[in-house]
Amino acid sequence: MRRRLLLGNWKMFKGPTDSRALAKALAEKFGAGSKPDTVVVFPPALSLSTVHEALGSTIALGAQNVHWEKEGAFTGENSAVHAADAGATYVLVGHSERRTYFGETDETANRRVKAVLAAGLTPVLCVGETLAERDANTTEDVVKRQMLGGLGGLDAQAAARLVIAYEPVWAIGTGRVATPEQAQAVHTYIRQQLRLAYGTLADNLSIVYGGSVKADNAASLMSQNDIDGALVGGASLDANVFFAIGQAF
Ligand code: PGA
Repeated sequence: MRRRLLLGNWKMFKGPTDSRALAKALAEKFGAGSKPDTVVVFPPALSLSTVHEALGSTIALGAQNVHWEKEGAFTGENSAVHAADAGATYVLVGHSERRTYFGETDETANRRVKAVLAAGLTPVLCVGETLAERDANTTEDVVKRQMLGGLGGLDAQAAARLVIAYEPVWAIGTGRVATPEQAQAVHTYIRQQLRLAYGTLADNLSIVYGGSVKADNAASLMSQNDIDGALVGGASLDANVFFAIGQAF
């Protein structure tokens, strides 16, 4: 189902103590006001259980990454099954920071997507080009490769639970947001790719934009036909600001 999604990626901010305070503030804010169809926050793994407890039912919980195995001798990793046990219902996969700093590839993203689905959770596959790739006019090629690689082997039934996040790397944490038209163009392209792979199901899948989304640019981004929500990093760490972004939907 195509839904309006507001996703907050806390990255490596907020340990359990600070996470609890932020989750409580968010639950209070979003509990009282109107909100997008679905609001999800992605705290660091160590804070998942605490945030789950503090959030109540208004806001859903997500993990920032998971390993593809259910369990095993993989020191330092977390599985999708364990994320589910901690209360998560969403998982980010293939975020550009994972790709840049931790060697994530399309192939490992694909294994993670499958593990997330197998655990009954919703994967949010992140795709997006670097500035050099945009300048070289290869945005569509890059996004296509990341989509085909990340989603390889998924049938339409599995794909029905997907969320795609388009996050141009040059817009993440830089304050340099894609224009609504730039973002819409890539979202349209992503939906075309989804249509080629899964037919009309593509019209029901949510494609969210990420990269320097703030309260003052959210409304113009959300006004675009193929932008179904936002994946917010820095601006999701303050309850008032994150709530204001939701109101701008
Ligand atoms: P940003 O991060 O909103 O701070 O640019 C977005 C993201 O990395 O998901």
